[in-house]
Amino acid sequence: MSADLVKRAAAVLPGGVNSNVRLPTAQTFFARGHGPRLWDVDGKEYVDYLLGQGPAFLGHAHPEVNAAVAEAVTRGMVYGAQHALEVEAVEKLLAAVGWADMARLGVSGTEAVQGALRLARAATGRRKVIGFAGQYHGWLDTVLMAHGPDGSGPGSLGQPPQYLADWVVTPFNDAEALRARFEAHPGQIAAVILEPMMCNSGAIAPRPGFLERLRELCTEHGAVLIFDEVVTGFRLAFGGAAQRFGVTPDLAIYGKAVAGGWPVAAIAGRRELLELFGDGRVNHSGTFNASVMAAAAVSATMDVLGRGTPYVTVEEHGTALMTGLRAIGERHGVPLHVQGLPAAFHVSFRAGDRPDTTVVDHASLQSLDLARYTRFGKVLAEHGIWVAGRGIWYVSAAHGEQELADALARFERALRNEAG
Ligand SMILES: Cc1ncc(COP(=O)(O)O)c(C=O)c1O
Repeated sequence: MSADLVKRAAAVLPGGVNSNVRLPTAQTFFARGHGPRLWDVDGKEYVDYLLGQGPAFLGHAHPEVNAAVAEAVTRGMVYGAQHALEVEAVEKLLAAVGWADMARLGVSGTEAVQGALRLARAATGRRKVIGFAGQYHGWLDTVLMAHGPDGSGPGSLGQPPQYLADWVVTPFNDAEALRARFEAHPGQIAAVILEPMMCNSGAIAPRPGFLERLRELCTEHGAVLIFDEVVTGFRLAFGGAAQRFGVTPDLAIYGKAVAGGWPVAAIAGRRELLELFGDGRVNHSGTFNASVMAAAAVSATMDVLGRGTPYVTVEEHGTALMTGLRAIGERHGVPLHVQGLPAAFHVSFRAGDRPDTTVVDHASLQSLDLARYTRFGKVLAEHGIWVAGRGIWYVSAAHGEQELADALARFERALRNEAG
């Protein structure tokens, strides 16, 4: 059945997929997902640690979120005007985030990034933006960077290089380099935008003090601090990375886990910034923003997450999984490298006989044998573990003891197979 679908897809979808991120998995078609597991069209079952690239933080087809959406859509989908659910959804979102005064809902993380950068530039009257090598903020011309070893420059054919002319790229976790970038462009930096924990390139937590220093530098130089919490939001804590690491940005972008798998993103932040949308001077628009489905999904997701138990489950499962994977590596004498937090961690192999190094930025990530893991990712899929080839593992609140046992057993079998 899958062979037929692959052929049909290749005939009508470029590359057989609807997002370039999925090109490496163009051969796989899923029939359904339930909780922490997926089933492909040939009936094969997988423990899922990709979670749709993050959104299925509550597991697939969460009954409470799905029921809320199903009930809400009986009243219509988009009105071209306001409805009570969107107010309720944003009130709950702000209560979760804790530090933000207002928010706008949208559809994708990419466009929310666009909105936040526009707000920062409008508020400061400046153009330049500091970003970090290897981080990802969406696929638009104005933000897409090459993901290669140096982590900067246009990321796509057809992307005019001048669209990135206002970017200043610096290494993550290096406060001194950041200070130097500010000083090299005095009075010109509108914003610093970052994944507060890098998850698109490794799973690299901020070094102690790094985010605090970043916050100070932004305040000192009058730049807007934007946390891109598309991955970390509602995953690392109910209040995202800002809560987990105890540093408050001026603006933050949420997506993925914010709506239990439904396509929703949000821009949240300080009132004086968000109000620039409110009087119409800064444009933020979208036909599907805060649709009935979106608002219902956010509202129900906030209810489920707000009970707190998802974070306990994820922390326990992720910790046990990381420990178990490391132990398997040791048992087999394989130089496995496992780094990150229980909710999002990175698995790879150390290269040659290099000692176990801690990866702190995009450059040091390149010291790992990333290509070997990408190949191994396919072996994992054959053995019933669904993960991204780039090494990130996402844990959901639906992963339980059975998934832990299955995942570790399958991983060990895959490793034996990989080693030949
Ligand atoms: C940190 C980060 N920002 C922005 C985006 C873009 O979000 P979307 O794919 O919803 O446009 C992503 C997507 O993976 C992301 O990981």
